[in-house]
Amino acid sequence: MRVLVIHGPNLNLLGEREPAVYGTETLAQIDAQIAELAKNLHLDVRSVQHNSEGAIVDELHAARGAYETVIFNPGAYTHYAYAIADAISAIGIPVFEVHLSNIFAREEFRRKSVIAPVCAGTIGGFGVDSYLLALRAAAHKI
Ligand code: DQA
Repeated sequence: MRVLVIHGPNLNLLGEREPAVYGTETLAQIDAQIAELAKNLHLDVRSVQHNSEGAIVDELHAARGAYETVIFNPGAYTHYAYAIADAISAIGIPVFEVHLSNIFAREEFRRKSVIAPVCAGTIGGFGVDSYLLALRAAAHKI
């Protein structure tokens, strides 16, 4: 099974960005853990990071026919990006929404996800384990 991991805006700064909230691991370190688990689960994984909404929409469109599952941390787009929600509905590939932090325990504006209603499920609050749990869930679902 081919799995695409999309990291959204500002996640390229992990490691130095608000470490008390997002931890001290860099995106490269997180991707290495994802790649290692994917190997154990016999999954073919590719990770990308985009800051712009359009690039994420393009990436989702390109996933059609190329990936069976998408694991997606939409960053702040989670809370208002209807174009991304529409793209997920359009492609018909199961998308697993992940968050490093527990968005429901944070500021009011983060407690709503416009992405969640079009996703297969959401995992958040467990740091890098949110991605790893999503990968395991994806492997089980297929
Ligand atoms: C985040 C939560 C979002 O609210 C925030 O804008 C992010 C990261 C998370 O992984 O916890 O950029 O998606």
